[in-house]
Amino acid sequence: MRLFFALWPDEAVRAQLAHWARELHALCGGRPTRTENLHLTAAFLGNVEEVRVAEVERAADDVAPRVVSLVLDQPGYWKHNRIAWAGASVVPRELETFVAELRSALTRSHIGFDSKAFLSHVTLLRDAREPRMMPALDPIEWRLDGFALLRSVTLPRGSRYEVLKFLKA
Ligand code: 2AM
Repeated sequence: MRLFFALWPDEAVRAQLAHWARELHALCGGRPTRTENLHLTAAFLGNVEEVRVAEVERAADDVAPRVVSLVLDQPGYWKHNRIAWAGASVVPRELETFVAELRSALTRSHIGFDSKAFLSHVTLLRDAREPRMMPALDPIEWRLDGFALLRSVTLPRGSRYEVLKFLKA
C-alpha cells in the first residue's frame, strides 16, 4: 500500500485551496490536484506491506496531535518539478515540532519514509508553467486539528486518497 501522513483540510479550507488552484491555473496551466485530494504532506512512506500497516498506525498513536493555526498566504512555484503550491510565509514552530515528532516515531518503529526535509506546502498544480507573477490571493486561515494516515490508490483517472486513520487533537 502506498501510504503517507498529511494534514487534511476541512471542506471550507479545501474550497479556498481549490479557488487558489483555479486562479493559478489561469496563469500557469498544468494539472490541478483534485479538490478532494488537496493536503499538506508531513511524511511520505511510499509502499508499505499490508501486514505492517498496523505498526504504522501504532507509531502514529505515539504522536500527540496538536491544534496549530496555519495561515497560507504565499503562492509559490518550483521550477525543478513544475509544481505550483500554496505555502505559508510563517511556518508555526508547533507545525515543525509535530512533523519532527511524527518522523521520530516512525524512525523508532523502523518505518521508512522519504527523509527529504519538510517543506510545508500544498501542491495545487503539476506540470505547470512558471507564472510571470503571482496573483494576489486572499490568505487561507487553516486551523489544523489533527493529522491523517492516507492511502494513495491509483486509478485510471489519477490517484485517489483514502483516509485510513484520523488522529484528532
Ligand atoms: P507533493 O504534493 O509535494 O508532490 C502523495 O504522493 C503525496 O506525498 C504528494 O503530496 C507528494 O508531495 C508527497 N510526497 C513526498 N515525497 C514523495 C515522494 N518521494 N514520492 C511521491 N510523493 C511524495
